[in-house]
Amino acid sequence: MLGKILTKLDQIFGKIMFRTLLPLSYILLNKKLYKKIQHQISSKSHYQLFEDGYVIVDKNFSKIADEINEKITIEKNNNSEIKFKPVHYFNIDESLKNTIKNFTKYDLKFIMDEISMFYKMPIFIANVTLRKTNHINNNEEKFNNFFHNDIYLGNHLKLFFNLHDMNSKNGPTVIIPSKETKRILNFKNRFAKRGLFVQKDEIKEKFTNNLKKGNLVICNTCECLHKASVPEINESRDILTLTLVAYPDKNINDLFYHEKNFHNEIWNGNSNLAKKYSKPGITKIFKFYNAFS
Ligand SMILES: [Fe+2]
Repeated sequence: MLGKILTKLDQIFGKIMFRTLLPLSYILLNKKLYKKIQHQISSKSHYQLFEDGYVIVDKNFSKIADEINEKITIEKNNNSEIKFKPVHYFNIDESLKNTIKNFTKYDLKFIMDEISMFYKMPIFIANVTLRKTNHINNNEEKFNNFFHNDIYLGNHLKLFFNLHDMNSKNGPTVIIPSKETKRILNFKNRFAKRGLFVQKDEIKEKFTNNLKKGNLVICNTCECLHKASVPEINESRDILTLTLVAYPDKNINDLFYHEKNFHNEIWNGNSNLAKKYSKPGITKIFKFYNAFS
């Protein structure tokens, strides 16, 4: 009961005191974290990730996208329902797991090393999803198609990998840079209902992922309002999403360190591992405060 009251107060005070949708405890923890890592800015991508809350990786991996596409072709051809659901999660079999693991461990090694250096902490993959998003009625929220902030700590990043060329028809992801997010979240907007945090005409600056197949965007989704646009009729978007968490546990020596104990959480769309390390309940706040010290 007390926990529930404190959680509610935490949420309300966060919105009252700061231009964000995060609870007060997360804002204070993030401040501690960002203060610690701001000295680590040593590259343009660090700077962009820190200042804008997102960064476009300056390299294309279209061959990996082709390899993943080839491996999901059988499921695409054999399952006629895929096109009719708002979102379809592809089954990630052993062969796909290998492709994704090799991609993250070897092709993305330079990015992973940079992120780990930036946070000055080991990093690990907490969740992998491979999904197709189809057309829906714009007025309903079925797949995060309304602008929102993810209620996580800033040690949690999303990596969006395009499996085909993106354009305005196939529902690209839209990200509002962190400073613009703060500008938009005035008192009225912060207390609006989900879906109404921001009106179209209020946005002065945004990034629309109209990038090519094989491009990758990294986003600190707790700092940037973001949404998945809705694909037009008969259009869809295929994307690989990786959730990355930075946490000061010296035992973490591999991106898939937690796979043995959290296999389901990583590969079957279960966000519990990400939550354990970057979405603490009110009772765990001090543990995280010490971890980020
Ligand atoms: Fe989100």
